[in-house]
Amino acid sequence: MTADDQKRISGQAAAELVEAGMVVGLGTGSTAAHFVKALAARGLDIRGVPTSENTANLARELGIPLVGLDDVKAIDLTVDGADEIGPGLSLIKGGGAALLREKLVWEASRRCVVIADAAKVVKTLGRFPLPIEVVRFGHPHTGRRLADIAAEFELPPPRLRTAERGIVITDGGNVIYDLASGEIADPAALAGALKSVTGVVDHGLFLDLADEALIGTDAGVVKRVP
Ligand code: A5P
Repeated sequence: MTADDQKRISGQAAAELVEAGMVVGLGTGSTAAHFVKALAARGLDIRGVPTSENTANLARELGIPLVGLDDVKAIDLTVDGADEIGPGLSLIKGGGAALLREKLVWEASRRCVVIADAAKVVKTLGRFPLPIEVVRFGHPHTGRRLADIAAEFELPPPRLRTAERGIVITDGGNVIYDLASGEIADPAALAGALKSVTGVVDHGLFLDLADEALIGTDAGVVKRVP
């Protein structure tokens, strides 16, 4: 089974959790796209809250009715991918630069289910560079302050994310710095330190947010709880 097959079966399993009438948070990324497609195929009467413009476009193409986060009091269930799944379902997210809207949607949700292929599961978070979303205004200064924080944790300086067309700009108009940390000994301490920097909007450490993981493996979908 390829990694994409594993992503697909985890997305399909998560789609089975959705019930008619629910408000559903729609994650971002290739695994979440499998969920959105499987959800659309079920044809349920639901409303989706997308976590990115990409996901909103996909959901619209598939005919899923959308509402904004501003328009709902709460979200019944959010299903989203992750870049890494560590102990206690601690996560690194934001590889697709959608971490801010994702975290806002997750935190407004009664239940959050993370879906992934088996390779995303790690013993210690930090193999995947940790994305940090930073306000664009004055971001080189914020980047230097982040480098100071990283040094306190004996980590290398975060690097501004660029792509072929230049600096990556998020849906919220911010930039991303990626911290190639290696193993993160104390994710909560690092999360707190990063969040304390003016100009940092948020980071990709999702701690104590996931209620359940559905991991696609060659032997089928395996459920994990924190
Ligand atoms: C988007 O910003 C991320 O948080 C994604 O959920 C994460 O990068 C997982 O993406 P894939 O499902 O494409 O691996």
